[in-house]
Amino acid sequence: MSLPSRVKIVEVGPRDGLQNEKLIVPAAIKIELIERLAAAGLSAIEVTSFVPAKWVPQMGDNDEVLRGVLSSPQRKPGVAYPVLVPNLRGFDSALEAGATEVAIFGAASESFSQKNINCSIAESLKRFDAVVDAASALEIKVRGYVSCVVACPYEGAIDPAKTAWVAKKLYEMGCYEVSLGDTVGAGTPASVQRMIEACAAHVPISKLAGHYHDTYGMAIANIYASLELGMAVFDSSIAGLGGCPYAVGSSGNVATEDVVFLLEGLSIKTGIDLDKLLAAGQFISQALGREPASKAAKALWSKRVS
Ligand code: HMG
Ligand code: MG
Repeated sequence: MSLPSRVKIVEVGPRDGLQNEKLIVPAAIKIELIERLAAAGLSAIEVTSFVPAKWVPQMGDNDEVLRGVLSSPQRKPGVAYPVLVPNLRGFDSALEAGATEVAIFGAASESFSQKNINCSIAESLKRFDAVVDAASALEIKVRGYVSCVVACPYEGAIDPAKTAWVAKKLYEMGCYEVSLGDTVGAGTPASVQRMIEACAAHVPISKLAGHYHDTYGMAIANIYASLELGMAVFDSSIAGLGGCPYAVGSSGNVATEDVVFLLEGLSIKTGIDLDKLLAAGQFISQALGREPASKAAKALWSKRVS
């Protein structure tokens, strides 16, 4: 199969990237980061999550950040600003802050589901069903996530059929897209392709997205392997920020800069301006007091400043 000619990148840095940071980043910095990402051409940016601050303290300013982004004079028309909601309570708060798109997040592993959202997979699907019903009545789009699609920090390898079963449930429930999360980043091109093939037997590949953490440095190879199967939506995080508070030791999502560099090299269109993206990565890295984790960003930035 030929590779897709165009790929959509869903930027998850402000949520997945920052949620694991101990240093609380001021809301104004998060808002400016999101504005910079939109200006760089990203058309979908996950802003925050509506979860209790005692579970994820960094997201405690969810209301302020979402309102700030949506009311900003810099707001770019046509950009989607989804937010994570684990249940109806989170959905109601997101709605109050003006959310027009939400994401629900389940798992292919029972243990991870318990640790991450404090309930079984079956119970989570009931909660998500209620969110999708409420959202569709208001014409709010819902994206679905499956975590631990190839491996779980507590259970080890996950059967692709289990991942496919959860992906199918989320799709049938009404999620417009299902993002497949390699939460621990242990997938390799072979295991990722097996998992995608299992999911694509139930959900059209055009409705699946790859969400790969880069713990073992495999994320770019896994994106290439997914492109080979026709997948054309990938989640990534500016400067490679991130990790999951309930998958200790797992590193950030694949860096957006690395993904754009790969896709440009393959002549695949993204609509993203790499220079502006690099500047956004520098901006948040400086706010956190460290260098971007992205190799492409480091190499390209050092050429720019030398
Ligand atoms: P719980 O403690 O079982 O909730 O948490 P509960 O229903 O028993 O309620 C306890 C209290 O929390 C109640 O308040 C609720 O009202 C309140 P009280 O009566 O005690 O005053 N509450 C809420 N408050 C604010 N917002 C809410 C909310 N819900 C209940 N939404 C819960 C269950 C799902 C809330 C919790 O487990 C949770 O928030 N977990 C989320 C953890 C998280 O954010 N993890 C990271 C995101 S997932 C991820 O990163 C993976 C992904 O990137 C893909 C990948 O890489 O694999 C997406
Ligand atoms: Mg993630």
